[in-house]
Amino acid sequence: MNIKQYWNIRHSGKAALGVAVLAALGMSAQTQAQSGLSIDSGEITYADHVAQIITDNCVVCHREGGVGPMQLTNFEQVRPWAPLIGMRVANKEMHPYSYDDHIGIQDLQGDWRLSDEEINTVTQWVAQGAPEGDWGDRSHPVANLPASDE
Ligand code: HEC
Repeated sequence: MNIKQYWNIRHSGKAALGVAVLAALGMSAQTQAQSGLSIDSGEITYADHVAQIITDNCVVCHREGGVGPMQLTNFEQVRPWAPLIGMRVANKEMHPYSYDDHIGIQDLQGDWRLSDEEINTVTQWVAQGAPEGDWGDRSHPVANLPASDE
């Protein structure tokens, strides 16, 4: 085939992938799981990859008494929010770069911005249907934070 045909094929393939990603972000996690959409062959699971990221970076606000509107302290709480989490994280809207200083816990965690790698991990996890994965002997990580009323 000539270069132009090749380009057209590449191009339409990319566009299709873009549409698939957008569709995945809009779909409920349940639907994604059923559609089996997979962008990367390596499976990214909540237990193996995502729980730690969310625990380290999101639970500070998304917990009982926190400033976030919902809690993200376990899979059951996180799962329904997976598509929105994917969107907010991909757009770098979450977590916020600054927040109310009256909470008084800045010095515990340092920089909460997600690295590009962490953003990738979260968005791919969502695109793969936000699977929980296998905890094996592990239990859910717990955020190392003071009680919210301190
Ligand atoms: C500094 C506090 C803080 C941190 C850290 C934080 N959030 Fe939030 N989050 C909020 C607040 C406040 C809101 C509600 C206002 C808004 O939607 O922007 C919110 C809203 C959201 C929403 C939208 C909920 C809705 O109803 O639309 C999602 C999804 C979300 N956060 C995910 C996350 C994820 C994932 C992380 C970690 C990567 C995170 N947040 C970290 C404070 C935080």
